[in-house]
Amino acid sequence: MVCLRQLLLLSLPLSTLGNVYDVSQTVLAPPPSKRPSKSIAIVGAGSGGLAILKTILDLPPDVRHDWEVILYEQRRDVGGIWLPDPPGPLPHYPALPESPTYPLLRTNTPHPTMTYPNFTFPPGTPLFPTWDYVQRYHAAFAEHFNFSQHVRLHHRVEAANWVGDAEEGEWELEVHVEDPSESGVPTKAFKRNFDHLVVANGHNHYPNIPKWDGTNNWLANTPAGTPQREIIHSIYYRHPERYTNRTVVIVGAGASGRDAALQVGKVARVAYQSLNPAYEPTAGAHVIPKPRIAHFNRTSVVFEDGSALHDVDALILGTGYEFRIPFLSAPCSSVLAVDKHPTANSTTARTLVTNLRYVFPLHRHIFSLHPGIPPTALAFIGLPVLVANCPSDMAQSLLVAHAIANSSILPSREEMLRDLFAREEKIRGEGLDPYYIGHRLVAESETDHDYQDAVVQYLKDVGALPQDGKKYVEPWRRLGRQNSRLLGRAWERVKQRGEESKWLDGVRTEDEWADLMSRLTEWQRIYEEKHGGPENGSQSVWYL
Ligand SMILES: Cc1cc2nc3c(=O)[nH]c(=O)nc-3n(C[C@H](O)[C@H](O)[C@H](O)COP(=O)(O)OP(=O)(O)OC[C@H]3O[C@@H](n4cnc5c(N)ncnc54)[C@H](O)[C@@H]3O)c2cc1C
Ligand SMILES: *[C@@H]1O[C@H](CO)[C@@H](O)[C@H](O)[C@H]1NC(C)=O
Ligand SMILES: *[C@@H]1O[C@H](CO)[C@@H](O)[C@H](O)[C@H]1NC(C)=O
Ligand SMILES: *[C@@H]1O[C@H](CO)[C@@H](O)[C@H](O)[C@H]1NC(C)=O
Ligand SMILES: *[C@@H]1O[C@H](CO)[C@@H](O)[C@H](O)[C@H]1NC(C)=O
Ligand SMILES: *[C@@H]1O[C@H](CO)[C@@H](O)[C@H](O)[C@H]1NC(C)=O
Ligand SMILES: *[C@@H]1O[C@H](CO)[C@@H](O)[C@H](O)[C@H]1NC(C)=O
Ligand SMILES: *[C@@H]1O[C@H](CO)[C@@H](O)[C@H](O)[C@H]1NC(C)=O
Repeated sequence: MVCLRQLLLLSLPLSTLGNVYDVSQTVLAPPPSKRPSKSIAIVGAGSGGLAILKTILDLPPDVRHDWEVILYEQRRDVGGIWLPDPPGPLPHYPALPESPTYPLLRTNTPHPTMTYPNFTFPPGTPLFPTWDYVQRYHAAFAEHFNFSQHVRLHHRVEAANWVGDAEEGEWELEVHVEDPSESGVPTKAFKRNFDHLVVANGHNHYPNIPKWDGTNNWLANTPAGTPQREIIHSIYYRHPERYTNRTVVIVGAGASGRDAALQVGKVARVAYQSLNPAYEPTAGAHVIPKPRIAHFNRTSVVFEDGSALHDVDALILGTGYEFRIPFLSAPCSSVLAVDKHPTANSTTARTLVTNLRYVFPLHRHIFSLHPGIPPTALAFIGLPVLVANCPSDMAQSLLVAHAIANSSILPSREEMLRDLFAREEKIRGEGLDPYYIGHRLVAESETDHDYQDAVVQYLKDVGALPQDGKKYVEPWRRLGRQNSRLLGRAWERVKQRGEESKWLDGVRTEDEWADLMSRLTEWQRIYEEKHGGPENGSQSVWYL
């Protein structure tokens, strides 16, 4: 990661065109002659970035008519994690792939529960679609609402610095433009100022890689005549065939570990799944459970119970991701301190802080409470984990769009801080550490759907949206997510019977998809009452 300031100093002569640095000597479009009344930069064109763009464009025309809204996306298309890496070899650690998507990736939740309100997947979409349907869904959303004039592909935000104080100021963004024909080659870089910055950079990009003693020694001692031993994070996982006939340890039982266990377990000579004490091995996977890894030595992987495996060829770490926003952090910016064991807390922090699990202090996981930046100047979409992203992103985005239009709808900074302390206190009262669970909505007092309902209800209460007496999250969406596993088993049975089209034919609208889930739930319940359900699987974490 290099930010522009360093790159320019290192290598490039500067030509300054107003506030535009043009590295390639190509003249960029001149700044618009009439300054917009508000300028907004969005970072990222995954589900979060598209949601905030939509809600801003949905504001009444008289409110936003002369605003400028630009969404910067570093990659070749929209879709975020659902857009796979370009063809070709994957980079090696520490270089990172663009996306964790692998060919066998399917959604682990039924797609009607994962949609933006009233924008369904196309007719005929399998209930648990592969990644490519989800990518096309995002592209179709951007296309349908004509986003292209706002979206700048191949534009990477390198640095964002706030020039101002707690009351007013501007963001100074440094942006790299990459040549689409030569991936990774920066051709231009420029600076631009904005009033508001909305960050939707995703949180499945920076792998969390545990450190164990002895890994280098173990890796260096691959027995003669066998393939090089390897340890990869799931972000690099692509094809189970790579593990055919090999002895593999999969670490973790979140969504990534679960998928690897199911897929690799089928082809490996032996597959083990190393688990935290509270977790059960993935139901249906051909894996042998093991406790946590303690360390490695020259020959073996040694576990916390003292047992050891001497013939392991490969490890796949489904150990999750770190919350990082490099363009807000050193060396590019000082807005967000990165500190794995911070002494500061939400009360005492003088900047934003990420402990790699939790970004604080934030109002409702969205607005910055950085003491030197106005809250509406910096917002985050998509931090919550263990949610259906599109509807959650849309709820957050409604609040952000309306707060950018009228900052008075937000409580005072002091009230927002008090709310945050109260939230953290409540979570502690439930026996959880708010700085450990971070943005994972696992607390009894803050479930995914209640969170979304509360965010949207707040907008109704301050008069920004009409009081319609309804909850934001539709009852069918709640039910569909609650019954995800049952629906997963139902859909497997539908596929086995070759009855996909029988169920999918004629299903188009949101209501019809809701009805399909309800009928399938009932059909599977009756079947399982008669024939018995699955063994009690753990209600383990699904998504990471
Ligand atoms: C393997 C996997 C499977 C998943 N399966 C499911 C599932 O089945 N159901 C479910 O509900 N959720 C699932 N999730 C959660 C998933 O993360 C969300 O569904 C959602 O798509 C995330 O959207 P996002 O916009 O927050 O982030 P992302 O999709 O990561 O998008 C962020 C975008 O920001 C861009 N960006 C980042 N930094 C910059 C920068 N500096 N400049 C310019 N652009 C930048 C990135 O290139 C990217 O396109 C899964 C996640 C993973 C990793
Ligand atoms: C939902 O979308 C459909 C198709 O675009 C449209 O006809 C309908 O009016 C929309 N309904 C609502 C409530 O917005
Ligand atoms: C879409 O954007 C283009 C380019 O600015 C514009 O000409 C066109 O009128 C827009 N279409 C719709 C339906 O908004
Ligand atoms: C896997 O190993 C078995 C036994 O050692 C061998 O018979 C088989 O050919 C191997 N398969 C592959 C695909 O290498
Ligand atoms: C590695 O540790 C295991 C378990 O303690 C032990 O059985 C094995 O002999 C050790 N190997 C080496 C080379 O120290
Ligand atoms: C934050 O830290 C300060 C100083 O260490 C401490 O007094 C305060 O109780 C802490 N607040 C929270 C909410 O943890
Ligand atoms: C802004 O919000 C405040 C608080 O809800 C409200 O009183 C005021 O009328 C709003 N202003 C506009 C222009 O809508
Ligand atoms: C499944 O869980 C229920 C409730 O916890 C329990 O009564 C039942 O015995 C369990 N069944 C199996 C097969 O473990």
